[in-house]
Formats: sequence, C-alpha cells, structure tokens
Amino acid sequence: MKIIIINGPNLNLLGKREPDIYGTASFEDYYIVLKEKFPKVELVYFQSNHEGELVDKLHELGFSYDGIIINAGAYTHTSVAIGDAIKGIKTPVIEVHISNVHAREEFRHHSYLSANAKGVILGFGLNSYELAIRSFILPQT
Ligand code: DQA
Repeated sequence: MKIIIINGPNLNLLGKREPDIYGTASFEDYYIVLKEKFPKVELVYFQSNHEGELVDKLHELGFSYDGIIINAGAYTHTSVAIGDAIKGIKTPVIEVHISNVHAREEFRHHSYLSANAKGVILGFGLNSYELAIRSFILPQT
C-alpha cells in the first residue's frame, strides 16, 4: 500500500513552532517512528510552504497512490485550489490536523478540504497522522 503524507506551510517548523500547541518533536523525527510502525506501508513524505506545489503533488500522485494524508496548515482555511484538487483526483484523501482547530480561533473552523476528503482526523497531536494511516489499513465497514 502506497501512502503519501503531505504537509503544508509552516509544518517544517514543527518542534520549534508554538510548542504549546504543536509539541516539541520535529516531523522528521516523528516520521522515522511512523515508518518503523508501518513496515508494510510504502510511506512517502512531502512538505511545501507553497500552495501550487501542494496542488501539483496532489495531481502527481492522486491517480496512482492508495491514500493521501494532508495537513494543509493555514491553506486549509483559505485554499479553494487545494479543495478543488482533492475533488479532482481519484486517490482518497484524509485531512489531518495536529491541533483541535474547532477549539481555536473562528477562522480555523472552516476547511475548504473537508467536503471532498474521505475523512478528517484532528486534535490528537502528531498521533493524528498515525490514526490516518490506520484508517487506510482497517478493513472498510
Ligand atoms: C494546523 C491547524 C491550522 O489552523 C494551522 O494554520 C496550521 C496547523 C494543525 O495541524 O493543527 O498550520 O493544520
């Protein structure tokens, strides 16, 4: 099973950025642990601070991969283009957030991605990514 994790803007700063909200681990360190937990999954990681690059990556892998896990960061709340890209591809997409965006500022309550995502997992810290991988592995009910 081929799954890509796509992280959007500012998520390259995980571990340094607002640690009270996003924790103290870098994504690179967490990713090593994730790969060890799922040795049978072909896991790929991509991060970009640029909206168009996120759209390009969705187009590139969205017809061949088994699953896409995306944390679009702040673009979640602004990007019609990323929402449209998710709608336009074949691969199921799970939207992930580290924090519980609904418990934060009102502008974080709306997502342009959710309506076209297979599901949304948020508020479990970095474990949100692991839960998303598990949801792809679980037999569908
Ligand atoms: C985030 C929540 C967004 O509102 C914020 O802009 C982020 C990270 C999260 O993972 O909790 O950059 O997507």
